[in-house]
Amino acid sequence: MRAAPGPTQLRSRVAASLGVVVVALVAAALVVADTRVAMLGLAGLLAVTAAAVILYRRLRAAQASNARLVEAIECIEQGFGRFDIEERLVLCNRRYREIYRRNGTDANSRMAEIGMTLRELLALRIENGLNVVPPGQSTERYIEERIKAIRAARSHVLRTDDGRWFAIDRSPAPDGGWVTLWTDIVPIKRAEDERRSLEMQLHHAQKLEAMGTLAGGMAHDLNNAMVPLLALTKLAARSLPEGSRERRRLELVQRGAERAREVAAQMLAFSREEKVETCAIDFPAVLREAMELLRRSLPATTRLETRISPVPPIVANAGQLSQVIVNLVTNASQAIGAEMGVIGVSLEPAAAPTAAAGGKWVRLAITDTGCGMDEATRRRIFEPFFTTKEVGQGTGLGLSVVHGIIAAHGGTIEVSSRPGDGTRFDILLPSVA
Ligand SMILES: Nc1ncnc2c1ncn2[C@@H]1O[C@H](COP(=O)(O)OP(=O)(O)OP(=O)(O)O)[C@@H](O)[C@H]1O
Ligand SMILES: [Mg+2]
Repeated sequence: MRAAPGPTQLRSRVAASLGVVVVALVAAALVVADTRVAMLGLAGLLAVTAAAVILYRRLRAAQASNARLVEAIECIEQGFGRFDIEERLVLCNRRYREIYRRNGTDANSRMAEIGMTLRELLALRIENGLNVVPPGQSTERYIEERIKAIRAARSHVLRTDDGRWFAIDRSPAPDGGWVTLWTDIVPIKRAEDERRSLEMQLHHAQKLEAMGTLAGGMAHDLNNAMVPLLALTKLAARSLPEGSRERRRLELVQRGAERAREVAAQMLAFSREEKVETCAIDFPAVLREAMELLRRSLPATTRLETRISPVPPIVANAGQLSQVIVNLVTNASQAIGAEMGVIGVSLEPAAAPTAAAGGKWVRLAITDTGCGMDEATRRRIFEPFFTTKEVGQGTGLGLSVVHGIIAAHGGTIEVSSRPGDGTRFDILLPSVA
């Protein structure tokens, strides 16, 4: 803010004026050489001195009050600006001037200055990238529209094009101008975004839980229905001559029923209704065994790269861990398809996913060079029955089972993927060591 003359300057100005008056009066008295005139001059001198002292005191008081006002405006955390009736900035604090800089900080860019008109300030915002003129619109027209909008609104929220958020309030001033206050609302916006994201996560968790309950109920009934079907098909097949067409057909029915029972078992695992036995296991051994089985089922165009480091023991169900590996590697292989590709499987000791969790952890990472996924697919992959595969190709249960198993083991699962860029699953499991 521009400063008014200080008390020292003021004092010397008054003293100088007094000096001039005194010299003039003394000179007049000497010239006239009349005692009465000299007395009159002296009285005049006293009156002028008294008036000057009063004036000086008033000026000092006004000066102090002005300084306090300036100080108060500078202390405001918000950007403060005062415009006159001609829409010219006549007073503002440093915060207001700095807001206009590129990104609010770039010292090489120009700040708002007292004396600038609203039009000049809008041009400065464009110059510093706070506002961007939409393509196809002239700068003049854009500024005109912004001025109209500013005049019409008492308060509005501005998102600058460099990503800052401000709540702007405008209050009319008695002289027809106005006062404006710019409040930085980035922290409020951030808290709002966080709350929205937490709400989405909660909604997602509730959906998964409801589907888990549903899947559990369905699996239970399906399992019950399969018991007589399997037992009777087996009996009926045995009563038929070996190699006969009828027996082969019944054996096919039996295999179909067994597959249905496997799906029911997966659904039970997902809904976590199934009781599983756990013990301290040698994860590298379980992984090697599962890889041996998988290696044979992969096409020759897919290369398998395994890197298994010694890791501390974990408490788990070996069967379920194999299921996790099989589901992830099968998905990876399906994502690569008939193209040339690589599936990477690695196991290594890891740090705890959060400082609060602590202890030793183990990381299983499964990567592939396959088709990858877009964000919309990635968000839904753990939902039961979500599949992008053709009908009859996938049930959409693989990853929901993996999710259920890892959660039941107290672990975490993370996925990163981009269309055409492959996929990476990272599973962290707590160790008992
Ligand atoms: N490695 C991967 N690369 C690309 N997409 C994947 C990968 N893993 C999973 N997906 C996507 O996630 C979806 C869900 O996977 P999930 O394993 O749950 O079911 P599925 O493989 O479709 O069927 P299922 O495993 O039951 O046979 C898949 O349909 C696919 O779109
Ligand atoms: Mg799958």
